[in-house]
Amino acid sequence: AAATLHWLESWLAHDMAYRLLAEMRIALFAKLERLAPAYLLRRRSGDLVALATQDVETVEYFYAHTVAPAFVAIVIPASVLTLLAWAAWPLALVLLPFLAWAGLTPVFARSKIDRLGSRARAALGQLGAHLTETIQGLAELAAFQATGRRRAVFLADIEAYQQQRSALLDDLSRQSAALEIATGLGGLAVALTGAVLAANGWFAPQWLPLLVLVSVAAFMPVAEIGQVARQLADTIASTRRLHVVEAETEPVTDGDLPVPANPQVRLESVSFAYPGRSAPALDRVSFAVRPGSTVALVGASGAGKSTVANLLLRFWDPQQGVITLGGVDLRRLRLADLRSHIALVAQDTYLFNDTLEANIRLAGRDVSDADVRRALDRAALSDFVDRLPDGLATRVGERGVQLSGGQRQRVAIARAFLKDAPILIMDEATSHLDTISEQQIRTALGELMKQRTSIIIAHRLSTIQNADTILVMDGGRVIEAGSHAELLAARGAYARLVAHQSGGLAA
Ligand SMILES: Nc1ncnc2c1ncn2[C@@H]1O[C@H](COP(=O)(O)OP(=O)(O)OP(=O)(O)O)[C@@H](O)[C@H]1O
Ligand SMILES: [Mg+2]
Repeated sequence: AAATLHWLESWLAHDMAYRLLAEMRIALFAKLERLAPAYLLRRRSGDLVALATQDVETVEYFYAHTVAPAFVAIVIPASVLTLLAWAAWPLALVLLPFLAWAGLTPVFARSKIDRLGSRARAALGQLGAHLTETIQGLAELAAFQATGRRRAVFLADIEAYQQQRSALLDDLSRQSAALEIATGLGGLAVALTGAVLAANGWFAPQWLPLLVLVSVAAFMPVAEIGQVARQLADTIASTRRLHVVEAETEPVTDGDLPVPANPQVRLESVSFAYPGRSAPALDRVSFAVRPGSTVALVGASGAGKSTVANLLLRFWDPQQGVITLGGVDLRRLRLADLRSHIALVAQDTYLFNDTLEANIRLAGRDVSDADVRRALDRAALSDFVDRLPDGLATRVGERGVQLSGGQRQRVAIARAFLKDAPILIMDEATSHLDTISEQQIRTALGELMKQRTSIIIAHRLSTIQNADTILVMDGGRVIEAGSHAELLAARGAYARLVAHQSGGLAA
């Protein structure tokens, strides 16, 4: 019967724990999704992986394996004390201090263990993060012959983790030594007192060995408290790590309005500084993009061009000023709706370790094969794909490492063609392309941009001459605005940039 009960209990605990585990992972993921990408820039991704796997697991383990033993650790000693009290009350009195000592040591040591546990968890997270980053950056490390230094850092991390862990274990082994002493002394005390009491006729002497045995047995579940305490330390640390993410304020909140038809994009005196930066990335930037027109952003590296794209997609919200779409503040729009209206070709494209096709189809849920082919054609990728033995089924490797920089960019452009959104943002979309593929794509992009509201960011000025408006940015501010011809005539910053670039080309 006891076995059945035990089985039932552990089955229930596990079942509950696993459901909890799944829930926790889903909740964590959903939260991360809402925090992305702003939060992810601050956290090391390896550390987040540890959070989603090990830390969640630890909490699960606690529910499955520690709650029940902790319960037993209270019930059994209590029953033993009752039994002793029933046989002869002084016996219970004698045993009680030892039991309390054994049971309370880990409780008192908890705050220390707690601290050690937190540090050990954090060190483990660091270790995972370091490893992930090393593996991802292996090519760079090799090229700069930095593997040795990197390894040294890694070994130091391992060392730190070992120290945290062994401090924790030392503490725990001191505890279990204390427990053994308590058990021995407790048993001895009961035996001695029992002998005296039996001699005085409190109970028949033949019961004495049994009573001593039961008293010693009462310590066994208490021994688990040490185990539980360690588990608890890990659990608290993990819970805390999870809670830090849970408590993180979301950078953007969802609105409830749909995006109006044919919207105009408008920035009104928008200022924004990245978290932790004092210098603003955008400083009172205002401009509007009429539906169907093209605005180009140019300017030195770090001028704030990509930041404009980040704010339009609401990866962040501006600290001052408003961005409106069709006259509605972006913050009042449904996020999913907003993002579905914008196709972004980002400055660096992330490709998943999957097939070319899956990477291109990232944007469209229900697009036909013909649509995919057309997008490939327009992005000047067809020839390349046709030459691959596996065609679209070719895997691109982690982060797309098996493609060239220009090919990755064209995959990003194909995605944008497929997404077919009314607003197009291209951040240095053609910077890695050779002149021939750029020509080819430019024609297709010209087609695409005709009916769309487009924001083009470019360093190569030759690519944006046809834009309706060109904005020159510097240090987060728009310093010039106008068409190519107007700006040339004004002989300002833009004219200087053009002179510089064409001069460079002529030389
Ligand atoms: N995630 C970030 N956290 C903190 N600062 C950032 C972040 N991203 C950009 N910045 C800073 O904001 C400023 C504007 O960056 P932004 O990426 O908008 O420049 P950019 O004009 O796109 O430059 P480039 O032409 O090199 O792409 C820079 O000074 C940059 O250092
Ligand atoms: Mg940029």
